[in-house]
Amino acid sequence: MASWADEISAIIEKNIAGFDGGETETASVGTVIAVQDGIARVYGLQDVKYLELVEFPRTGIMGMAFNLEEETVSCPILGDYTHIQEDDEVRTTGRVISVPVGDALIGRVVNPLGEPLDDKGPINTDKTRFVERIAPGVITRQAVDTPVQTGLKAIDSMIPIGRGQRELIIGDRQTGKSAIAIDTIINQKGKNLICIYVAIGQKNSTIARTVEILEQHGAMEHTIVVAASASEPAPLKYLAPYSGCAMGEEFMETGRDALIVYDDLTKHAEAYRNISLIIRRPPGREAYPGDVFYLHSRLLERAARLNKDYGGGSLTALPLIETKANDISAYIPTNVISITDGQIFLETDLFNAGIRPAINVGLSVSRVGSNAQTRAMRQVAGTLRLDLAQFRELAAFAQFASDLDKATRSRLERGQRLTEVLKQPQYSPVPVEKQVMIIYAANSGYLDDVPLDLISRWEAEFYRYMDANHPEIGQTIIEKSVNSKEKMSDELLKQLNAAIEEYKQTAAPRPNQEDQAKKAEEARKAAAQGANAAGSTTEGSTMETPAQTNQAR
Ligand SMILES: Nc1ncnc2c1ncn2[C@@H]1O[C@H](COP(=O)(O)OP(=O)(O)OP(=O)(O)O)[C@@H](O)[C@H]1O
Ligand SMILES: [Mg+2]
Repeated sequence: MASWADEISAIIEKNIAGFDGGETETASVGTVIAVQDGIARVYGLQDVKYLELVEFPRTGIMGMAFNLEEETVSCPILGDYTHIQEDDEVRTTGRVISVPVGDALIGRVVNPLGEPLDDKGPINTDKTRFVERIAPGVITRQAVDTPVQTGLKAIDSMIPIGRGQRELIIGDRQTGKSAIAIDTIINQKGKNLICIYVAIGQKNSTIARTVEILEQHGAMEHTIVVAASASEPAPLKYLAPYSGCAMGEEFMETGRDALIVYDDLTKHAEAYRNISLIIRRPPGREAYPGDVFYLHSRLLERAARLNKDYGGGSLTALPLIETKANDISAYIPTNVISITDGQIFLETDLFNAGIRPAINVGLSVSRVGSNAQTRAMRQVAGTLRLDLAQFRELAAFAQFASDLDKATRSRLERGQRLTEVLKQPQYSPVPVEKQVMIIYAANSGYLDDVPLDLISRWEAEFYRYMDANHPEIGQTIIEKSVNSKEKMSDELLKQLNAAIEEYKQTAAPRPNQEDQAKKAEEARKAAAQGANAAGSTTEGSTMETPAQTNQAR
């Protein structure tokens, strides 16, 4: 008897020993009862969590639990929703949406789920982060005090951006919003600032072109691109900025500096409006749901400068917003203006007038960045905003005046030259010491006798001249007044004055020569055209001005 009982207990013991509780998995299972414009309405899924990933096992497509209702769950589908049918099974995964993060992503183009879109193979990282997180609290933060050099003279001098700041870039379509963000990314080469460019709702061709430009300028080496193009379903566009932000937070929390560009949040808000209307959240102003402010505030609050105890890292955010007919008082623009620490306002009129970047100096501000501005720049550009404002006012009046007194005229001339100096072509960031030198030159009147159309050449050659003949001045500016906070000394300014004088005497482009060369060239062209028109009556006549035609006859 005893041996029989022993045998049974041995068998039971063996069975118990073989039981491994860790391997069992539970999942709520539900069924799709309707699919509508990329949103599946699912019955069941009692245990699902908000923003949990759910799987449609028949197709392998994922979705996210977005609206938890009494009987059903609305799940935006993260993929091609045309494959999902009524009665499909849905399973919870137990994972809240997260993306891969870390250095392995640098140089890559990924979708909002962190899956590679380029042909550089899988992303080798086992670190992930939740896409939605609560922003760092007040205790962990520190004041913004280190600059982000955009390399754009107009921004670095008048609307300086600090690491950890949120600066909005706002303007109508085709005013150069993306251009500012991309130039800023290009300028970060070798500056220890990792960049993340989140493209939301742009054409695939535009995104491909942006990536190509970044590659050409060697900027992909420090950049991650998160792309949710216009052809992607709204849920992916909705997710994109949060995913990019999670990637940025990883750098911030490991004590590094990162910059994130959201291009643009108007399309993000529209994607969210899309989803909300389909899941029947009540529409409010402009048909956006009531919590559209929270959509952007919880995103932008995650940009921060952490204090030393928390690693001292930072995440700077440059959100973009598109306006209609310069109306910055529309719903989404006012929301984002109130969330950010300042805005760069771009205008079509200025853009068309050739003032590029088309920054409206009066309406653009940086509320925290001036603390972060380099000492040298603050010294030379301190009064720049004011000077330009006075110039604009004066220029508006001077339109009606016939003859002006000398002081007014010289003010106007100076203003025009400052405006000219602040123009800048795309993809050509200017290092900070050169910005300081040219703004100093303009402010001190060295450009007053240079004709307006010569200024950009004067400037380019000035940089070259300084590099070749006085590299020590630039170096001193960097050492003393950029890397440390000393004022530029009188001695240094004296050297700079002397160098500019010398440049003007010897190498600067001369108006006279230039004019003469131009006139000669024009005369030559006119003569050639005249001969042409006289020789043939049928061809080439479409290009002529009436005056020339008369002359030929
Ligand atoms: N500083 C500049 N100098 C010359 N051209 C510029 C400059 N900045 C932008 N552009 C040109 O202006 C056009 C519009 O620029 P961009 O695409 O950056 O504007 P956007 O506001 O982002 O437009 P969208 O609303 O379509 O996104 C582009 O063709 C670009 O090359
Ligand atoms: Mg753009």
